[in-house]
Amino acid sequence: MYIYKWLKKVKLYYFNNYIYKESFILLKYVLKKNILWIIINMKNYKLNNLELQFLNFLLIRRLKGEPINYIIGKCYFLNFKYKIYFDIFIPRQDSEIMVEYIIYLIKINNFKFILDLGTGCGAIAISIAKIFPKIFVMGVDINYLSINLSKYNSFKLNLKNIFFNKSNWFSYFKKKNNKFDIIVSNPPYINKYYNHYNNNLRFESYISLFSNYNGMKDIIYIILNSYYYLNNYGWLIIEHCFTQVNIINFFFNFRGYYNIFNYKDYNNKFRFTVGQKLIN
Ligand SMILES: C[S@@+](CC[C@H](N)C(=O)[O-])C[C@H]1O[C@@H](n2cnc3c(N)ncnc32)[C@H](O)[C@@H]1O
Repeated sequence: MYIYKWLKKVKLYYFNNYIYKESFILLKYVLKKNILWIIINMKNYKLNNLELQFLNFLLIRRLKGEPINYIIGKCYFLNFKYKIYFDIFIPRQDSEIMVEYIIYLIKINNFKFILDLGTGCGAIAISIAKIFPKIFVMGVDINYLSINLSKYNSFKLNLKNIFFNKSNWFSYFKKKNNKFDIIVSNPPYINKYYNHYNNNLRFESYISLFSNYNGMKDIIYIILNSYYYLNNYGWLIIEHCFTQVNIINFFFNFRGYYNIFNYKDYNNKFRFTVGQKLIN
């Protein structure tokens, strides 16, 4: 079957714009060619049986709701490419705004030590380390698969200023003598009773997404404990759901952070909160 005929079939059966668009991504993946090649050759390249069966297999997985990033095994964050696989959280575009804020903080304060708590595939930590080759970045995660993957992703980008360690939040830093200028975290913050079995979240690891106490348990733990690991004038930056903003402000205040601000995402909803440790 010619490429254009396969595409026509997809359009006909699955009259859904995003599936049609993503079928180009699947073609790219299966044929190992770029989009331009696919467009130019769609009327004269005949898919062989193996290619066709593989494409249909991937398409069915996508139609069942599996995220395209798991299917093709990669994702992009701030224009850097990352390997990703099942059981590791796929970085979201909304977190990019948070990283842009961190870039701004590092530039104006000349910060040197950054910690990413719950690093996943390493996207937040790695983008910072890539942009600032002279600073030291550490990423920790409770999932050893995530640590392995982050190491691989940082190796692919040839980074020498980044380190990853398995840790249950701060357990790796038992003696509390490690201090950072910025601690950033996109922790699990969805209520664990939320029914995710009907949507695409069911493909992502439970531990990445869900937390006790209405999704607040890990966030509260991080707010209260980060204080010990921050340098004076250092910042804690936490991603969260817009519904959690009031309770998060309460705990930032309660723990004694200053300059607490909430920032919005691309959908104009509160997405992350920052607070500064100041001891006069
Ligand atoms: C929402 S994901 C964020 C991943 C990554 N920072 C990002 O934004 O793409 C949350 C991450 O926290 C990790 N995590 C969950 N509980 C943890 C714990 N107790 N200690 C350390 N990491 C934890 C999960 O394994 C997961 O990788």
